Amino acid sequence: MRDLENKVIYQIYPKSFKDTTGNGYGDINGIIEKLDYIQDLGVDYIWLSPCCKSPQNDNGYDISDYMQIDELFGTNEDYERLIKEAKKRNIKIMMDLVLNHTSSEHIWFKKALQKDSRYYDYYIWRDEPNDINSMFGGSAWAYSEEVGKYYFRLFDKTQPDLNWENENVRKDLYEMINYWIGKGVEGFRLDVIDLIGKEPDKMITGKGPKFYEYLKELNNNTFKDKILTVGECWCSTIDESYKMCNKDGLTQAFHFTHQCLTHTYGDKWNQSKINLYKLCDCINKWENEYTGIEAIVMNNHDLPRLISLWLNDNEYRKESAKLLITLFGLLKGNLYIYQGEEIGMTNAYFNSIDKYRDVETLNKYNELKEKGLSEDSIMEIIKLVSRDNARIPMQWDDTKNAGFSDVAPWIDVNDNYNKINVKKDINSEDSVFNYYKNIIKFRKENYEKIEKKATFNTDGKIISMEKEDFIVYANFTNENIEIPLGNDILFKNYENTKNNLLRPFETIVVKK
Ligand code: GLC
Repeated sequence: MRDLENKVIYQIYPKSFKDTTGNGYGDINGIIEKLDYIQDLGVDYIWLSPCCKSPQNDNGYDISDYMQIDELFGTNEDYERLIKEAKKRNIKIMMDLVLNHTSSEHIWFKKALQKDSRYYDYYIWRDEPNDINSMFGGSAWAYSEEVGKYYFRLFDKTQPDLNWENENVRKDLYEMINYWIGKGVEGFRLDVIDLIGKEPDKMITGKGPKFYEYLKELNNNTFKDKILTVGECWCSTIDESYKMCNKDGLTQAFHFTHQCLTHTYGDKWNQSKINLYKLCDCINKWENEYTGIEAIVMNNHDLPRLISLWLNDNEYRKESAKLLITLFGLLKGNLYIYQGEEIGMTNAYFNSIDKYRDVETLNKYNELKEKGLSEDSIMEIIKLVSRDNARIPMQWDDTKNAGFSDVAPWIDVNDNYNKINVKKDINSEDSVFNYYKNIIKFRKENYEKIEKKATFNTDGKIISMEKEDFIVYANFTNENIEIPLGNDILFKNYENTKNNLLRPFETIVVKK
């Protein structure tokens, strides 16, 4: 598995990357158009959020046909052309696999509704619901008038969960995965994979008793340990997530334990300030104790932008973006970058609920309304946490719609696109993109230094990470802090350094 290590993976949210057809949605040809840009960053893989046929109730995470590319994004031929064009640039394509559920528009579910003898049992039906809740709010059981029973759905009611107990479900999914491997897909990101072993009657959702058995069977029938795979497993402990990473399971897993540090009592809608002591403990664990390949991830399409949440996305935006990639980019493992992160894009902060599109956000809004919260307090929460913060269009330049589309996009662009865009960033002296590029180049060329053990220290304001060859200092506050520093500087996010002083959000890397 070691040849799957020291990789950089760039995540694209196709709907918001680049529109070439003028329909307000990003598309596959838009990605092909920007491949040189992605290659320039030093990327090995592109992870594409789902592009398969879908009614788009959850932006493609509700698949109605696994074998067809949605016409919103292009055709199967476009997808194959993307694979080939990427390959020419030494970039592999990582596909998003949604194996826990389908769309209610999927032919399997439609047949299940007709009580078809083969497909009825592809889903989970009960006469009465129990107390399990959906991740998107409300009961996890939705009633079907046609069937006269409840079906299980851990997400939206248009996303019925597949019944993994049924061998035919598993076989059909393996066949589909092998179809895409045959087309040249060389990586997979497995959506909410820890949920496939659920046992709803026992109130078990995550990592059910048969989870590892299913994972092994999936692995043996499809990607084996030759293909880079990463599993999404929310709210797991780090150790739990590592259990699924081995030659019979996945290459690596997202555990999100560092992003969860700001959730109050596990509630992401109630955010607190990042605690650097806890952050150090968390990173220390994966950096020093874990012997597998860590998946280093700061941002994705489900998370508000980390610079907006943890640091300063206004006055010290560029410094903050560089600080994060300095600390995370010099850790061992595979580095995941989410579109726009490399130019320091920020949260959208839309003020009004009609600007939001995300099903989870809209459900939350209604839930908080019902609880009697004021519009202002609801919007304060949503502005900070909504997944739409990261799903707004990529900011390419300062022309209309940020150069994303000729027409009004499916979701508004951020008002700050005049100031923050690829064209401007790349041409600026203190470019975030170029800084990312340098960090990536350094980690590629000096991985033996990156792999060494690290010692983490913090006083609650500064984090230092010391490895055998270099020390990283990162000031997470807007204060000037005196601290003894070395002189031989490898990376810095201010133009000049000051002797033994770290200014607001300053980071420096000193050679030892
Ligand atoms: C994952 C996806 C998220 C989606 C959910 C249901 O968490 O990342 O976007 O809403 O699964 O498929």
